Amino acid sequence: MPGVVLIGAQWGDEGKGKATDLLGSRVDYVVKFNGGNNAGHTVVIGDEKYALHLLPSGILSPGVTPVIANGVVVDIEVLFQELDDLISRGVDVSRLLVSGSAHVIAGYHRTMDKVSERFLGKRRIGTTGRGIGPAYADKINRVGIRMWDLFDEKILAEKIEGSLDQKNHLLVKVYNRRAITVDETVEELLAYADRVKPMVADTSLILNQALDAGKNVLFEGGQATMLDVDHGTYPFVTSSNATAGGAVTGSGVGPTKISSVIGVIKAYTTRVGEGPFPTELFDEMGEYLLKTGGEFGVTTGRARRCGWYDSVIARYSSRINGITDLVVTKLDILTGIPKIPVCVAYDVDGVRYDEMPTDQTAFHHAKPIYTEFDGWTEDISGCRTFEDLPANAQAYVRSLEELSGARVSAIGVGPSRDAIIPLHDLLH
Ligand code: GDP
Ligand code: IMO
Ligand code: MG
Repeated sequence: MPGVVLIGAQWGDEGKGKATDLLGSRVDYVVKFNGGNNAGHTVVIGDEKYALHLLPSGILSPGVTPVIANGVVVDIEVLFQELDDLISRGVDVSRLLVSGSAHVIAGYHRTMDKVSERFLGKRRIGTTGRGIGPAYADKINRVGIRMWDLFDEKILAEKIEGSLDQKNHLLVKVYNRRAITVDETVEELLAYADRVKPMVADTSLILNQALDAGKNVLFEGGQATMLDVDHGTYPFVTSSNATAGGAVTGSGVGPTKISSVIGVIKAYTTRVGEGPFPTELFDEMGEYLLKTGGEFGVTTGRARRCGWYDSVIARYSSRINGITDLVVTKLDILTGIPKIPVCVAYDVDGVRYDEMPTDQTAFHHAKPIYTEFDGWTEDISGCRTFEDLPANAQAYVRSLEELSGARVSAIGVGPSRDAIIPLHDLLH
């Protein structure tokens, strides 16, 4: 009965897309359960490179049924663009299912995202500007539009009116923008209804039936633990539950159906957007990781902030998500660095913290306490077994494992599908 959850253990962009793709041939369903087109996953298959935002990465595996579950916020125009792009490249997308309970991102959500960021000024979050936060805010405020609503024009108009009423006051009186009309939004969303209708389904029922029938279901998280609205570095987070628990609420599958949790983690750390980041590097080493690791956002093209591996965060992620297996990615990027520091604990105003501080101020003040590991110079991109790795690379991975609270089950040594060292079966 494997219901397997795969999540990011840091601040995103750990290589979740590649890790999902790795399991693609062995799973029946891949479910996106949180976030929306704020995600950016790069999957490299042979000479082909795919950038996915809203669709689960599993869509690239023939035979898999991709599912956009209820916890996702869906920009339907982006959905169609991504589908059309994949269709033009010969990918079969015909099995895609979208939950009728998933919330819809409308034009006014994108507008609100942009104007509220501008209004926040130096307190801005650095969002992706895709309307994610405002769409989730409407969901929680109970003025959201769900996929089902697209198929009843009268209900749709009523709901849009309810949702726009307060926003127009804000837009006109506070943000000095023009009001958005109900009619233009009804027109915008209705235009999608016919094409999306055949994809809309009761995905919770379908997934539970699949699990009961012994199928493999992979729940693919967008964003990551430190961007989770409850457990991340609030308020510098996204607006959904990107942690393993989000797979349950975001898909309508019970926790008893989940058999393992894969945490994807980079051999160093990156972050996009604002917010605290204790191991961030501001020197030429940071620049080196940025360039060598190709750390530019798939969604917004922004340069990612780079720093060393932080095992306080790894332990925290292991605990919050109940991680059973870690996939350590991008080990190859560390090749050639003579001494590799790893953060083992924080110094917060003279006090040592081995575990994540719970209050925002302490985390803002956290200074990393480093242990240095010897590096290696050999090219490891062709290594396919643990024993192929140079001794120092082996020791580095074993140290991360000891420090991080979960076993390492695979190691990424390059972007391509086969550039992976398997240690333990990820489907168990
Ligand atoms: P995601 O959002 O977690 O799916 O990750 P992204 O796709 O945003 O960023 C990860 C980047 O690292 C992508 O460009 C991947 O192709 C690349 N990548 C993944 N695993 C590895 C690896 O082991 N080594 C190298 N060099 N690149 C990798
Ligand atoms: P993947 O799935 C990295 C960040 C944004 C911003 C914050 C809030 O590729 O790992 P939002 O638009 O979600 O309201 O922005 O979250 N963020 C990500 N950072 N990877 C992502 O996704 C991200 N999705 C959102 O940069 O700091
Ligand atoms: Mg990404």
